[in-house]
Amino acid sequence: MEPSFPNYLLSKQSVDDRALNKDVLNALKANLPSEPFRIIEVGAGIGTMLKRLICWDVIRNVEYVLVDEMRENIEYARAWIPQFAGEAGLRVEGSGRDRLRLSDNERDIRIQLAQADVFDFVKTKPPPADVLIAHAFLDLLPLPESLPNLFSLTKRLAWLTINFDGVTTFKPTIDATLDEIIERLYHQTMDTRATGGDSKSGRHLFGYLHNAGAEILAAGASDWVVYPLNGKYPHDEAFFLNFILTFLEKSLEKHPELSGDDLRHWLRKRRAQIERGELVYIAHQMDFLARV
Ligand SMILES: C[S@@+](CC[C@H](N)C(=O)[O-])C[C@H]1O[C@@H](n2cnc3c(N)ncnc32)[C@H](O)[C@@H]1O
Repeated sequence: MEPSFPNYLLSKQSVDDRALNKDVLNALKANLPSEPFRIIEVGAGIGTMLKRLICWDVIRNVEYVLVDEMRENIEYARAWIPQFAGEAGLRVEGSGRDRLRLSDNERDIRIQLAQADVFDFVKTKPPPADVLIAHAFLDLLPLPESLPNLFSLTKRLAWLTINFDGVTTFKPTIDATLDEIIERLYHQTMDTRATGGDSKSGRHLFGYLHNAGAEILAAGASDWVVYPLNGKYPHDEAFFLNFILTFLEKSLEKHPELSGDDLRHWLRKRRAQIERGELVYIAHQMDFLARV
Protein backbone atom coordinates (compact mmCIF):
# COMPACT_ATOMS: atom_id res chain seq x y z
CA MET A 1 0.00 0.00 0.00
CA GLU A 2 1.19 3.51 -0.85
CA PRO A 3 1.66 5.64 2.29
CA SER A 4 -1.28 8.00 1.62
CA PHE A 5 -3.85 9.32 4.10
CA PRO A 6 -6.78 7.49 2.42
CA ASN A 7 -4.80 4.25 2.66
CA TYR A 8 -4.16 4.94 6.35
CA LEU A 9 -7.93 5.33 6.84
CA LEU A 10 -8.52 2.05 4.96
CA SER A 11 -5.98 0.25 7.16
CA LYS A 12 -7.59 1.72 10.30
CA GLN A 13 -10.97 0.08 9.59
CA SER A 14 -10.30 -3.30 11.21
CA VAL A 15 -8.64 -1.62 14.22
CA ASP A 16 -11.69 0.64 14.68
CA ASP A 17 -14.12 -2.26 14.12
CA ARG A 18 -12.63 -4.01 17.16
CA ALA A 19 -12.23 -0.84 19.18
CA LEU A 20 -15.68 0.72 18.90
CA ASN A 21 -17.49 0.34 22.20
CA LYS A 22 -20.33 -2.10 21.50
CA ASP A 23 -22.41 -1.00 24.54
CA VAL A 24 -22.34 2.55 23.24
CA LEU A 25 -23.16 1.26 19.75
CA ASN A 26 -26.12 -0.71 21.18
CA ALA A 27 -27.32 2.44 22.93
CA LEU A 28 -27.10 4.26 19.60
CA LYS A 29 -29.19 1.56 17.91
CA ALA A 30 -31.75 1.65 20.73
CA ASN A 31 -32.13 5.43 20.45
CA LEU A 32 -32.22 5.84 16.68
CA PRO A 33 -35.45 7.38 15.39
CA SER A 34 -37.47 5.38 12.89
CA GLU A 35 -36.14 5.59 9.39
CA PRO A 36 -35.83 7.54 7.23
CA PHE A 37 -33.62 9.92 9.18
CA ARG A 38 -30.65 12.15 8.52
CA ILE A 39 -27.02 11.72 9.58
CA ILE A 40 -24.22 14.27 9.33
CA GLU A 41 -20.74 12.88 9.83
CA VAL A 42 -17.99 15.44 10.38
CA GLY A 43 -14.32 14.67 9.73
CA ALA A 44 -15.68 11.70 7.80
CA GLY A 45 -12.49 10.96 5.85
CA ILE A 46 -13.20 8.58 2.95
CA GLY A 47 -16.48 7.18 4.32
CA THR A 48 -15.36 4.18 6.37
CA MET A 49 -18.08 4.76 9.01
CA LEU A 50 -20.73 4.88 6.29
CA LYS A 51 -19.47 1.52 5.03
CA ARG A 52 -19.42 0.08 8.57
CA LEU A 53 -22.97 1.22 9.36
CA ILE A 54 -24.23 -0.32 6.12
CA CYS A 55 -22.30 -3.59 6.62
CA TRP A 56 -23.33 -3.81 10.29
CA ASP A 57 -26.96 -3.22 9.22
CA VAL A 58 -27.34 -0.17 11.45
CA ILE A 59 -28.75 2.00 8.64
CA ARG A 60 -31.05 1.12 5.75
CA ASN A 61 -32.96 4.20 4.75
CA VAL A 62 -31.10 7.40 5.55
CA GLU A 63 -29.74 10.61 4.17
CA TYR A 64 -26.00 10.66 4.99
CA VAL A 65 -23.88 13.78 4.68
CA LEU A 66 -20.08 13.32 4.84
CA VAL A 67 -18.04 16.42 5.61
CA ASP A 68 -14.25 16.47 5.39
CA GLU A 69 -11.88 19.31 4.63
CA MET A 70 -9.29 17.22 2.78
CA ARG A 71 -9.87 17.16 -0.99
CA GLU A 72 -7.93 13.91 -1.33
CA ASN A 73 -10.35 12.18 1.07
CA ILE A 74 -13.51 13.38 -0.63
CA GLU A 75 -12.15 12.45 -4.07
CA TYR A 76 -11.24 9.02 -2.75
CA ALA A 77 -14.73 8.65 -1.23
CA ARG A 78 -16.32 9.51 -4.58
CA ALA A 79 -14.67 6.47 -6.17
CA TRP A 80 -14.51 4.13 -3.17
CA ILE A 81 -18.13 4.34 -1.98
CA PRO A 82 -19.53 3.08 -5.33
CA GLN A 83 -16.89 0.33 -5.29
CA PHE A 84 -17.75 -1.12 -1.86
CA ALA A 85 -21.48 -0.59 -2.44
CA GLY A 86 -21.29 -2.53 -5.71
CA GLU A 87 -19.41 -5.32 -3.93
CA ALA A 88 -22.19 -5.38 -1.29
CA GLY A 89 -24.79 -5.84 -4.04
CA LEU A 90 -26.17 -2.30 -3.87
CA ARG A 91 -27.23 -0.35 -6.95
CA VAL A 92 -25.26 2.87 -7.30
CA GLU A 93 -26.58 6.04 -8.90
CA GLY A 94 -24.70 9.32 -9.00
CA SER A 95 -26.03 12.79 -9.60
CA GLY A 96 -23.56 15.63 -9.99
CA ARG A 97 -20.20 15.37 -8.28
CA ASP A 98 -21.47 15.31 -4.75
CA ARG A 99 -24.51 13.03 -4.63
CA LEU A 100 -24.69 9.25 -4.59
CA ARG A 101 -27.58 6.91 -4.00
CA LEU A 102 -27.08 3.30 -2.90
CA SER A 103 -30.12 1.06 -3.02
CA ASP A 104 -31.60 -2.40 -3.25
CA ASN A 105 -34.98 -3.83 -2.28
CA GLU A 106 -34.40 -3.08 1.40
CA ARG A 107 -32.02 -0.17 1.46
CA ASP A 108 -31.96 3.39 0.21
CA ILE A 109 -28.97 5.47 1.30
CA ARG A 110 -28.77 8.98 -0.13
CA ILE A 111 -25.28 10.43 0.25
CA GLN A 112 -23.95 13.95 0.02
CA LEU A 113 -20.21 14.56 -0.06
CA ALA A 114 -19.07 17.95 1.22
CA GLN A 115 -15.46 19.04 1.02
CA ALA A 116 -15.36 21.78 3.65
CA ASP A 117 -13.90 22.85 6.91
CA VAL A 118 -16.52 21.76 9.43
CA PHE A 119 -16.94 25.26 10.87
CA ASP A 120 -17.51 26.73 7.38
CA PHE A 121 -20.02 23.94 6.81
CA VAL A 122 -21.84 24.89 10.05
CA LYS A 123 -22.08 28.49 8.77
CA THR A 124 -24.04 27.28 5.71
CA LYS A 125 -26.81 26.31 8.20
CA PRO A 126 -27.61 22.91 6.68
CA PRO A 127 -30.84 21.22 7.82
CA PRO A 128 -29.94 19.65 11.17
CA ALA A 129 -29.46 15.91 11.35
CA ASP A 130 -31.03 13.37 13.69
CA VAL A 131 -27.58 11.94 14.37
CA LEU A 132 -24.24 13.72 14.33
CA ILE A 133 -21.23 11.42 14.01
CA ALA A 134 -17.67 12.47 14.83
CA HIS A 135 -15.34 9.47 14.65
CA ALA A 136 -11.62 9.86 15.44
CA PHE A 137 -12.16 13.59 14.98
CA LEU A 138 -13.13 15.53 18.12
CA ASP A 139 -9.69 15.19 19.70
CA LEU A 140 -8.28 17.21 16.77
CA LEU A 141 -10.47 20.25 17.46
CA PRO A 142 -10.30 23.06 20.00
CA LEU A 143 -12.35 21.72 22.93
CA PRO A 144 -14.74 22.48 24.49
CA GLU A 145 -15.45 25.58 22.41
CA SER A 146 -16.15 23.60 19.21
CA LEU A 147 -19.03 21.66 20.74
CA PRO A 148 -21.86 24.25 20.47
CA ASN A 149 -21.03 24.76 16.77
CA LEU A 150 -20.96 21.02 16.12
CA PHE A 151 -24.17 20.47 18.06
CA SER A 152 -25.99 22.97 15.87
CA LEU A 153 -25.76 20.20 13.23
CA THR A 154 -28.03 17.81 15.16
CA LYS A 155 -31.46 17.98 16.75
CA ARG A 156 -31.27 14.67 18.65
CA LEU A 157 -28.17 12.51 19.02
CA ALA A 158 -24.41 12.80 18.81
CA TRP A 159 -22.30 9.63 18.53
CA LEU A 160 -18.76 10.73 19.33
CA THR A 161 -16.29 7.90 18.96
CA ILE A 162 -12.54 7.16 19.24
CA ASN A 163 -11.66 10.18 21.39
CA PHE A 164 -8.05 9.81 22.48
CA ASP A 165 -7.57 9.68 26.22
CA GLY A 166 -4.00 10.12 27.30
CA VAL A 167 -2.48 6.63 27.09
CA THR A 168 -0.20 5.33 24.35
CA THR A 169 1.73 2.12 24.91
CA PHE A 170 4.25 0.36 22.69
CA LYS A 171 5.48 -3.06 23.79
CA PRO A 172 7.94 -4.74 24.16
CA THR A 173 9.94 -2.12 26.03
CA ILE A 174 12.99 -0.76 24.20
CA ASP A 175 14.29 1.54 26.91
CA ALA A 176 11.83 2.31 29.70
CA THR A 177 13.02 5.91 30.15
CA LEU A 178 13.10 6.73 26.43
CA ASP A 179 9.75 4.99 25.84
CA GLU A 180 8.20 7.12 28.59
CA ILE A 181 9.73 10.37 27.26
CA ILE A 182 8.58 9.69 23.70
CA GLU A 183 5.05 8.80 24.77
CA ARG A 184 4.80 11.89 27.01
CA LEU A 185 6.19 14.32 24.39
CA TYR A 186 3.93 12.80 21.72
CA HIS A 187 0.89 13.58 23.89
CA GLN A 188 2.21 17.07 24.51
CA THR A 189 2.31 17.73 20.74
CA MET A 190 -1.41 16.86 20.56
CA ASP A 191 -2.16 19.55 23.17
CA THR A 192 -0.12 22.26 21.45
CA ARG A 193 -1.21 21.88 17.79
CA ALA A 194 -2.13 25.24 16.21
CA THR A 195 -5.47 23.84 14.99
CA GLY A 196 -6.48 22.49 18.41
CA GLY A 197 -6.42 19.11 20.05
CA ASP A 198 -6.69 17.46 23.43
CA SER A 199 -4.69 14.40 24.45
CA LYS A 200 -7.17 13.70 27.24
CA SER A 201 -10.34 14.45 25.32
CA GLY A 202 -11.98 11.18 26.43
CA ARG A 203 -12.09 11.97 30.16
CA HIS A 204 -12.65 15.69 29.54
CA LEU A 205 -15.73 15.04 27.40
CA PHE A 206 -17.80 14.01 30.45
CA GLY A 207 -17.65 17.58 31.73
CA TYR A 208 -17.57 19.26 28.33
CA LEU A 209 -20.72 17.48 27.15
CA HIS A 210 -22.55 18.30 30.37
CA ASN A 211 -21.56 21.96 30.15
CA ALA A 212 -22.66 22.09 26.51
CA GLY A 213 -26.15 20.98 27.61
CA ALA A 214 -25.86 17.43 26.24
CA GLU A 215 -27.07 14.40 28.20
CA ILE A 216 -24.71 11.41 28.12
CA LEU A 217 -26.73 8.29 27.27
CA ALA A 218 -23.73 5.93 27.17
CA ALA A 219 -19.95 6.08 27.43
CA GLY A 220 -17.16 3.53 27.35
CA ALA A 221 -13.61 2.74 26.31
CA SER A 222 -12.77 2.16 22.65
CA ASP A 223 -9.07 1.38 22.83
CA TRP A 224 -7.03 0.54 19.78
CA VAL A 225 -5.27 -2.72 20.57
CA VAL A 226 -3.06 -3.85 17.71
CA TYR A 227 -1.19 -7.11 18.11
CA PRO A 228 0.11 -9.93 15.95
CA LEU A 229 -1.58 -13.31 15.75
CA ASN A 230 0.97 -16.08 15.22
CA GLY A 231 3.54 -13.44 14.30
CA LYS A 232 1.31 -11.76 11.67
CA TYR A 233 -0.88 -8.66 11.86
CA PRO A 234 -4.42 -9.12 10.55
CA HIS A 235 -5.73 -7.16 7.55
CA ASP A 236 -3.57 -4.08 6.82
CA GLU A 237 -2.58 -3.49 10.43
CA ALA A 238 1.19 -3.66 9.83
CA PHE A 239 0.69 -0.72 7.43
CA PHE A 240 -1.46 1.00 10.09
CA LEU A 241 1.31 0.61 12.70
CA ASN A 242 3.95 2.00 10.34
CA PHE A 243 1.70 4.98 9.63
CA ILE A 244 1.26 5.63 13.36
CA LEU A 245 5.05 5.62 13.78
CA THR A 246 5.34 8.09 10.89
CA PHE A 247 2.80 10.42 12.60
CA LEU A 248 4.82 10.17 15.76
CA GLU A 249 8.06 10.84 13.87
CA LYS A 250 6.62 13.94 12.16
CA SER A 251 5.27 15.25 15.46
CA LEU A 252 8.54 14.80 17.34
CA GLU A 253 11.37 15.14 14.82
CA LYS A 254 12.11 18.76 15.74
CA HIS A 255 11.23 18.53 19.42
CA PRO A 256 13.76 20.46 21.53
CA GLU A 257 13.62 17.94 24.39
CA LEU A 258 14.41 14.89 22.26
CA SER A 259 17.62 14.18 20.35
CA GLY A 260 17.11 13.34 16.68
CA ASP A 261 19.47 10.37 17.06
CA ASP A 262 17.50 8.93 19.98
CA LEU A 263 14.24 9.24 18.05
CA ARG A 264 15.67 7.68 14.86
CA HIS A 265 17.20 4.83 16.83
CA TRP A 266 13.90 4.21 18.67
CA LEU A 267 11.87 4.30 15.44
CA ARG A 268 14.27 1.88 13.73
CA LYS A 269 13.79 -0.59 16.58
CA ARG A 270 9.99 -0.18 16.60
CA ARG A 271 9.81 -0.68 12.81
CA ALA A 272 11.94 -3.81 13.14
CA GLN A 273 9.47 -5.06 15.77
CA ILE A 274 6.65 -4.61 13.24
CA GLU A 275 8.69 -6.53 10.62
CA ARG A 276 9.19 -9.38 13.06
CA GLY A 277 5.51 -9.34 14.13
CA GLU A 278 6.34 -8.40 17.72
CA LEU A 279 5.04 -4.89 18.29
CA VAL A 280 1.92 -4.36 20.39
CA TYR A 281 0.34 -0.92 20.27
CA ILE A 282 -2.39 0.30 22.61
CA ALA A 283 -4.10 3.70 22.49
CA HIS A 284 -6.74 4.41 25.11
CA GLN A 285 -9.83 6.12 23.70
CA MET A 286 -13.47 6.70 24.64
CA ASP A 287 -16.84 6.65 22.89
CA PHE A 288 -19.94 8.63 23.82
CA LEU A 289 -23.57 8.73 22.84
CA ALA A 290 -25.20 11.99 23.85
CA ARG A 291 -28.66 13.48 23.51
CA VAL A 292 -28.25 17.04 22.38
C1 LIG B 1 -8.20 10.94 12.01
S1 LIG B 1 -9.06 11.34 10.57
C2 LIG B 1 -10.53 10.37 10.76
C3 LIG B 1 -11.30 10.20 9.49
C4 LIG B 1 -12.52 9.27 9.59
N1 LIG B 1 -13.42 9.72 10.62
C5 LIG B 1 -12.07 7.85 9.87
O1 LIG B 1 -11.92 7.50 11.05
O2 LIG B 1 -11.86 7.09 8.92
C6 LIG B 1 -9.63 12.98 10.88
C7 LIG B 1 -10.30 13.60 9.67
O3 LIG B 1 -10.75 14.90 10.01
C8 LIG B 1 -10.57 15.76 8.90
N2 LIG B 1 -10.52 17.12 9.43
C9 LIG B 1 -9.59 17.66 10.26
N3 LIG B 1 -9.92 18.93 10.57
C10 LIG B 1 -11.09 19.19 9.93
C11 LIG B 1 -11.94 20.33 9.86
N4 LIG B 1 -11.66 21.46 10.54
N5 LIG B 1 -13.06 20.26 9.11
C12 LIG B 1 -13.36 19.12 8.43
N6 LIG B 1 -12.59 18.01 8.47
C13 LIG B 1 -11.48 18.05 9.19
C14 LIG B 1 -9.28 15.28 8.27
O4 LIG B 1 -9.21 15.66 6.91
C15 LIG B 1 -9.38 13.77 8.47
O5 LIG B 1 -9.97 13.14 7.38
